[in-house]
Amino acid sequence: MNENELYSVIGEDGFQRLVAAFYRQVPNDDVLGPMYQGRDLAGAEQRLREFLIFRFGGPERYIAQRGHPRLRMRHAPFPVDQTGRDRWLQLMGNALVEAQLPAEAEQILRTYFESTATFMINRQ
Ligand code: HEM
Repeated sequence: MNENELYSVIGEDGFQRLVAAFYRQVPNDDVLGPMYQGRDLAGAEQRLREFLIFRFGGPERYIAQRGHPRLRMRHAPFPVDQTGRDRWLQLMGNALVEAQLPAEAEQILRTYFESTATFMINRQ
């Protein structure tokens, strides 16, 4: 399986379950929770879900709604340090366990999240 085939394997449902399981943990998290204080959590959940669907070979609704991803630039307002990066990956790791995706799909996503979360670090 390559990255572009992932959507056809796990479908809307796979991404929906994964991202819901991630965001369910966010409000109560002592590192990520405060960053989302006063923000639209349901909207954030939708943006991450639609981005991943686009990124892994599904419909490009994210692009239609948000334009070019420019992920690093969009994270600039949020202080992402090593601790935030590690916590984000920990919560996403929990979500991957909960979502029970096919092993190969899970591995592709883990590899992608590790490198992208590191790329998102913008503070010491
Ligand atoms: C694999 C790593 C990551 C990916 C793929 C990712 C993806 C995204 C996407 C697609 C958005 C919405 C952008 C938009 O259209 O406006 C977003 C927003 C956000 N991200 Fe990330 N992100 C990652 C890592 C992180 C990390 C490490 C943090 C903090 C420690 C973080 C915090 C946030 C916050 C606070 C928002 C704003 C929520 C919102 O959309 O309103 N992200 N992220």
